[in-house]
Amino acid sequence: MARILLGVSGGIAAYKALETVRLATLVGHAVRVIQTPTSRRFVGEASFAAITGAPVLTSEFEPDPARGAYPGEPVPERAPISHLALVERADAYLVAPATANTIAKLAGGHADSLLTTAALAATCPVLVAPAMNNRMYLHAATQANLRTLAARGVIVIPPGTGQLASHGEHGVGRLPEPPQLLAAVERALAAAHGPLTGTRVLVTAGGTQEPIDAVRFLGNRSSGRMGFALAARAAARGAEVTVIAANVGLEPPAAATVVPVQTAAQLTDACVRQFDHADVLLMAAAVADFRPAAPAPGKLKKTAADAPTTLALEPTEDVLSALAARRRPGQLIVGFAAEHGAGASAYGREKLERKRLDAIVVNDVSQPGIGFGAADNEVLILTRDGAERQVDRAPKETVADAILDEVQRLRAQQVGDGAAPFDRARS
Ligand code: CTP
Repeated sequence: MARILLGVSGGIAAYKALETVRLATLVGHAVRVIQTPTSRRFVGEASFAAITGAPVLTSEFEPDPARGAYPGEPVPERAPISHLALVERADAYLVAPATANTIAKLAGGHADSLLTTAALAATCPVLVAPAMNNRMYLHAATQANLRTLAARGVIVIPPGTGQLASHGEHGVGRLPEPPQLLAAVERALAAAHGPLTGTRVLVTAGGTQEPIDAVRFLGNRSSGRMGFALAARAAARGAEVTVIAANVGLEPPAAATVVPVQTAAQLTDACVRQFDHADVLLMAAAVADFRPAAPAPGKLKKTAADAPTTLALEPTEDVLSALAARRRPGQLIVGFAAEHGAGASAYGREKLERKRLDAIVVNDVSQPGIGFGAADNEVLILTRDGAERQVDRAPKETVADAILDEVQRLRAQQVGDGAAPFDRARS
């Protein structure tokens, strides 16, 4: 878990900073708090100290009783020389709420308080969450200051729109809710420190729909949950994620770029466009193997004299095999296999070989409560190096983590010998 430094400046929304600290400590982060003198008029240091379990600092000249340690760490025998020890050791520095005045000082590079001085000295990701009256937020000066900060790499967490502190006022300037603030910090932490930082992951999710006529289609029961869970968990590990989503009705993962498609042909086009930029392909989508050969342009009428009673089908392209055949060294490809009943493992291994994959995730869709549409899954992960990992029934996010652990293991091997696992296994 991370060391988070929180800078609180003097706005009414300071009460939300308390809840943010509570949520962060609840999930195991170690939090230290710096307050501006004005912020103490809104929330006292005793509240922050009680929740973090560590002293709160306000001035550069004040000695830190915890000597720069974060909660859970041993207090050093000697006090650090610098009053900036807290920010030097932080994994992320969040300023929330950030008032117009504090934002102006940060943009101007002022160092007139511990909060602003720490921002100048920070080498970790810095996040600023503006909170103020809407006219102050929209003022050209504040907007210019925020642009200056963003251009320097500071992450500006946009404020929400709604009721503001001044009576009857409504508009933009509300501090985002504590879970959103924490999510922004965790995204920044993952982007800076996650094991998949710098890795571009392409995920396909959902199930394709192949038109029979203008209103009917051939489809499958895939909900896209597994693909979206993979995308969300890969992003949480710092990956840059693109999801090609075939007919997924779920809330898309906030940290991923989503490309919506409907048919196998559209999915193929999108995959071909995106694949060259990807380091890892996770092919979780259920792609139709066949499509109607001649979809009717309008709606077929059952009363029409020529109403068809059979459907002529043609095969679709096997996207996974096509992409595996044109991969460049270093690209890692994971396929999925929905198998039914006994022999799932043997079918999976055969598919891995035939499609020239690095790994295949096999799930037995004959079991109730897992697989298509369900929140849980139970899978067998087979890898090109002969390893086999059983993941017992668990939420799809947990299964996604197990799959990503295997991806990281295989990528570490790639880095080790400079070849794709597929090439190495064949040689
Ligand atoms: N897949 C694909 N293109 C297709 C069909 C499937 O890329 N036209 C991918 C799926 O996304 C999945 C993997 O191939 O990752 C396995 O799909 P599956 O349909 O089980 O493979 P098949 O080779 O068609 O096997 P089966 O004969 O069991 O249907």
